[in-house]
Amino acid sequence: MTPSNLFRNRPVAVIGAGVMGIGIVQVALLAGHPVHLYDVREGAAAAAAEQLGATLARLADKGRLTPEDVAAARGRLSVAVSLNELRDTALVIEAIVENLAVKQALLRDLEAIVARDCVLASNTSSLSITAVARGLEAPGRVVGMHFFNPVPLMRLVEVVSGLATDPAVADAIALLAADWGKTAVHAKSTPGFIVNRIARPFYAETLALLQERAATPAVLDACVRGAGFRMGPCELMDLIGHDTNFAVTQSVYEANFLDKRYQPSLVQREMVDGGLLGRKSGRGFYRYPESAAPAADDGAIAAASLPALPLVLHGGDAVAGLLASRLAASGLGFTRESAQEDAATRLQVGGGWLLPTDGRCAAERASALGVADLALFDWPVGPAAAGTTTPVVPLAWTAAAQASDDFAAQAERVLRALGWLPQRLADVPGLVVARTIAMLANEASDAVEQGVCDAAGADAAMTLGVNYPAGPFAWLAQWGAPAVVRLLDALDAFYRGERYRVSPPLRRATWATSPTSASTASPAAR
Ligand code: NAI
Repeated sequence: MTPSNLFRNRPVAVIGAGVMGIGIVQVALLAGHPVHLYDVREGAAAAAAEQLGATLARLADKGRLTPEDVAAARGRLSVAVSLNELRDTALVIEAIVENLAVKQALLRDLEAIVARDCVLASNTSSLSITAVARGLEAPGRVVGMHFFNPVPLMRLVEVVSGLATDPAVADAIALLAADWGKTAVHAKSTPGFIVNRIARPFYAETLALLQERAATPAVLDACVRGAGFRMGPCELMDLIGHDTNFAVTQSVYEANFLDKRYQPSLVQREMVDGGLLGRKSGRGFYRYPESAAPAADDGAIAAASLPALPLVLHGGDAVAGLLASRLAASGLGFTRESAQEDAATRLQVGGGWLLPTDGRCAAERASALGVADLALFDWPVGPAAAGTTTPVVPLAWTAAAQASDDFAAQAERVLRALGWLPQRLADVPGLVVARTIAMLANEASDAVEQGVCDAAGADAAMTLGVNYPAGPFAWLAQWGAPAVVRLLDALDAFYRGERYRVSPPLRRATWATSPTSASTASPAAR
């Protein structure tokens, strides 16, 4: 018998008839299980069953289910009025209030009712599975089965093991999730599990940029969407609700003993305090319903409108290759200095330089290079990096304080002519996409180092759980550990704090991928 057969067609109980419970019931019913639904609130389970019936009928109207499927599914659902009715279940999934003591008490009650081999799964999004299982006679059967909202649509399930969880139980739940059409990813019970932990920098970097008044929410959102994300951080926080997003951040921060890496944002707390909760309150970073993030302008300008400038491209890495193909497509005349991979990528624009960010401010790089006219652009990630035929997407850029206005205007025009919509930020290190991607990769590396999940699991979790256009390890492979670490070290040097601490495996990877650097570096540089 394979482990998935452990549960096949056997009765499942769902406890908690709220947003998540109803979704879990729908998925389990359509997978063929008899399902008991129980809620402590009188009438709640019956009302949820009604609601679910209507949902299934709508799916039949749309042709996604047959009327027979709907009738059979409804016939398999029973509303329980007491926990005692759950005796015959092979699996209980609790989706009740997010409160440790209440969840522990429920599981203790269940232990006295269900069979010894009944698996007790918790949909908790933030509590420790180790703590949830504490005090039970058989804590090995307790496992996290963390679904994402809306359950019928989101493919990810984090299967979370606490210290006592029997690995066979976790494996059986993963197979069951696969039977239910989900992608299961194993996670160790640690604060935020996988998705809610690795995603923190996605919000935190933008909130930090807003605190520094680097740009408006609309500009930051546009740049992040330009990297292929469906939503920018500000619009996504507005959708999630700032109260919820802030609570998750705070819980991960506190659970990590106030590690500054996860420190919540004053910008967000102020919004929560003021009731600017996002879509649900009519106002967050944007006003609802009328305002969405502003449409990006279509400001691609013809190469002909650029004054003839000597353009010289240096460098041979992927960004240099991208610039070369866009320069060629733009019709701007340019020369290529050398295509050595190790030559720093930079575009000479007249007497000044346009470079990709390496995590240092434009002013610092200008000062280090002894030039005034210097501008930086963000890492072209996602569609922006796909070549010359992609849609025109926003790209963050900045100019050194010492650069002339004429040069800054030229740099912006060149970026436009190359097919981007340049979005000027203040001179912040790492701009927006580069620092966000680097921090996501850093957090994912830490999670893997600490045994929370494996790299494939992290990538699957982030693409399926929060719809990222790629996983953190895919970005790491694209940009390389040395560039990511250089960027983080530069941010760390600039801000001086714990936030940009480099993950140990990333640091080790920089030595592993550049075997000659130690032997060729000057003694002073080592
Ligand atoms: P909800 O508030 O919509 O529903 C919770 C239900 O549990 C209510 O109907 C309540 O009457 C019932 N309940 C409370 N205490 C109970 C008890 N002792 N016995 C039986 N029923 C009880 O909550 P929601 O959003 O569905 O969340 C449920 C769980 O799922 C929480 O642990 C939450 O952290 C987790 N979760 C929530 C997500 C979301 O997006 N809402 C996403 C992933 C996990």
